[in-house]
Amino acid sequence: MKAILSRSSGGPETLVLEEVDDPEAAAGQIVVRVKASGVNFPDTLIIEDRYQFKPKRPFSPGAEFSGVVEAIGSGVCSFRVGDRVMGFSRWGAMAQKVAIDADRCVAIPDKMPFDEASAFILTYGTSYYALKERGALRTGETLLVLGAAGGVGLAATEIGKAMGARVVAAVSTTEKATLARERGADRAVIYPTAPFNLISRREAAHVLKEACGPDGAHVVCDVVGGDYSEAALRAIAWDGRFLVVGFAAGIPQIPLNLPLLKSCQIVGVFWGPWLDRSGDHLSRSAAELLEWYNSGKLRPCISARFPLTKAGDAIAQLGARKALGKIIINID
Ligand SMILES: NC(=O)c1ccc[n+]([C@@H]2O[C@H](COP(=O)([O-])OP(=O)(O)OC[C@H]3O[C@@H](n4cnc5c(N)ncnc54)[C@H](OP(=O)(O)O)[C@@H]3O)[C@@H](O)[C@H]2O)c1
Repeated sequence: MKAILSRSSGGPETLVLEEVDDPEAAAGQIVVRVKASGVNFPDTLIIEDRYQFKPKRPFSPGAEFSGVVEAIGSGVCSFRVGDRVMGFSRWGAMAQKVAIDADRCVAIPDKMPFDEASAFILTYGTSYYALKERGALRTGETLLVLGAAGGVGLAATEIGKAMGARVVAAVSTTEKATLARERGADRAVIYPTAPFNLISRREAAHVLKEACGPDGAHVVCDVVGGDYSEAALRAIAWDGRFLVVGFAAGIPQIPLNLPLLKSCQIVGVFWGPWLDRSGDHLSRSAAELLEWYNSGKLRPCISARFPLTKAGDAIAQLGARKALGKIIINID
């Protein structure tokens, strides 16, 4: 089979397309012929050895995929050859086939195309875990989403609306603001570009506070980090929950007087290890997400498609802050 490989640490330009042996299904695994693979920010980090997990080289990036079951390992009774599935693999999915633990896969509903399914399980799963399990977002609360037109951010915008929140989307461009509004955000605001100086730091906090209103944001979903985190924390409500999801703009340092002043919580969100803690977590969260998908509340937004030969370009585009919703790789 063909696979995109990282043979040495570096940017997307270091990735190579090679012929490798087909994977085999070990006990508890299935082999999936991949139809599409969603690109995620961690793909930009893992190939540069900047991610929490450092696979042995050569490895293929790609954590989220959809495809058709081609082989079944011993002990697997949840799937049959030919089933349409979507799954989460941490890495390895930018390839024509992937061997994956069966409990990391979910059946794709009939009306969901492979492209959408490749942009669903990790992207929406992370935001679901953040807002529901970690943020305990309630109907009528105000949710502030940073980076609200990216993959996880746009999913948080849609899920926030599905959960009955008032959603304030914060983004860097008018094009991204338009997309967030189209996907349900009640308000979309544009923050200044980091790194902040004294003036832009104040401006960012002011823009977010004004958009959230006098009570502030009950829940902040921060997939961006960097200078943006402190500005958003200044817009949080009394007793709010600040969800630490990602650091696309860097890892922030937070003055701890801020959570004291708002009596708020700063809450870590790490979706993959949450799945490891119970086999039930993926199936239970996927069931509710797919219910929302089937009722039209969630609509994965795919703005760009690349062939496997151009997987490096796809990762580069996402890393350059250019993704609107999701970028995916279509695999023959
Ligand atoms: N905690 C978890 O379990 C978990 C799971 C999955 C992903 N994540 C993390 O969540 C974050 C978002 O992932 P994603 O796949 O949704 O990425 P994405 O689509 O690229 O979205 C990231 C957003 O961050 C903003 N951003 C600000 N500064 C940036 C910079 N210097 N470079 C790139 N983007 C920048 C961009 O929005 P604006 O241009 O509007 O600012 C962009 O849309 C990443 O940090 C990722 O590692 C965490």
